[in-house]
Amino acid sequence: MAKNRDEILGRLLENRGRYISGGSLSSDLKISRTAVWKQVSELRKKGYLISAIPNQGYRLEREPVLLDSEKLRGSSIFYYQSVDSTNLIARRHADEGAPGYSIVVAEEQETGRGRLGRSWFSPRASGLWFSMILRPHMLTPANAGPVTLVAAAILANHFAGQYGLPLKIKWPNDLLIRGKKVGGILTELRGELDLVEYLVVGIGINVNQEQEEFPKDLRKISTSLSIESGEIYNRTDLLLSLRDSLVRGFNRFFTDGFAPFYMPWKKYNVTLGQKVTLSWQGGLLQGKALQLTLNGALQIQDNRGEIHTINYGELI
Ligand code: BTN
Repeated sequence: MAKNRDEILGRLLENRGRYISGGSLSSDLKISRTAVWKQVSELRKKGYLISAIPNQGYRLEREPVLLDSEKLRGSSIFYYQSVDSTNLIARRHADEGAPGYSIVVAEEQETGRGRLGRSWFSPRASGLWFSMILRPHMLTPANAGPVTLVAAAILANHFAGQYGLPLKIKWPNDLLIRGKKVGGILTELRGELDLVEYLVVGIGINVNQEQEEFPKDLRKISTSLSIESGEIYNRTDLLLSLRDSLVRGFNRFFTDGFAPFYMPWKKYNVTLGQKVTLSWQGGLLQGKALQLTLNGALQIQDNRGEIHTINYGELI
């Protein structure tokens, strides 16, 4: 299997810029066309961008560019090739005493996790999949609620300011460009009822994927920075600059609370003023997203005029 894959990769590399037909690969390697296609899919999962055109075959468009481990060294960044989920690894590091603002980053996640038990598509070498450990002093779980919104405001501001990219925030944790999902945040907490021990803020950003690299069910609703801007990004530089913005931002949050992020969050959000449907307490709540409270909760006015203050949920 791996031998066939290496063979196909070798042929694609030799024929850079040209299509090789599935038929010739199948007869040269003495395997079926379906087997060729399966190995091409495996290569794609490893970060090779391979285009396929009916009657012409396969062409290698791009080899995977890994994060620069040298550049990441000495910066409290734990770098992995493949993990189940960076949030899980970050929790393990935090339990072993890793300091606040340490980051776990991986080229790929085998079981990347989204909110509400969903999975998060995390192919190799194309996005940024990382988790930051936060160790606030004397924060109660009740006051930790806005952490996800703070992260979203920092990210939107970072991408707008440094890359000119129009990232928007959909409450509470979706990062969108032109209505499509480009990233998400999954915050987890360890602590007791009255004190947070640590938080893990997991961030996934689709960076260099092409549209056809997304599975079919995600293609219409997902995008990447690269699809939106036409540029290929250096993920190492992106990670390091994001780390700096996140450290600065969270420091501010721990000293001054959510107030400094309230206006930036509002500036980038696409939720307020909209008709929304919230999946909530096993049912649906429909109404208008009226306002964000100073604690980061969303106020929804239902169709009877009643106002609900929502701390947790999913807008569908
Ligand atoms: C969502 O939109 O539902 C949240 C997605 C969060 C994905 C990131 S990728 C890095 C970190 N590790 C995970 O398993 N999930 C988060």
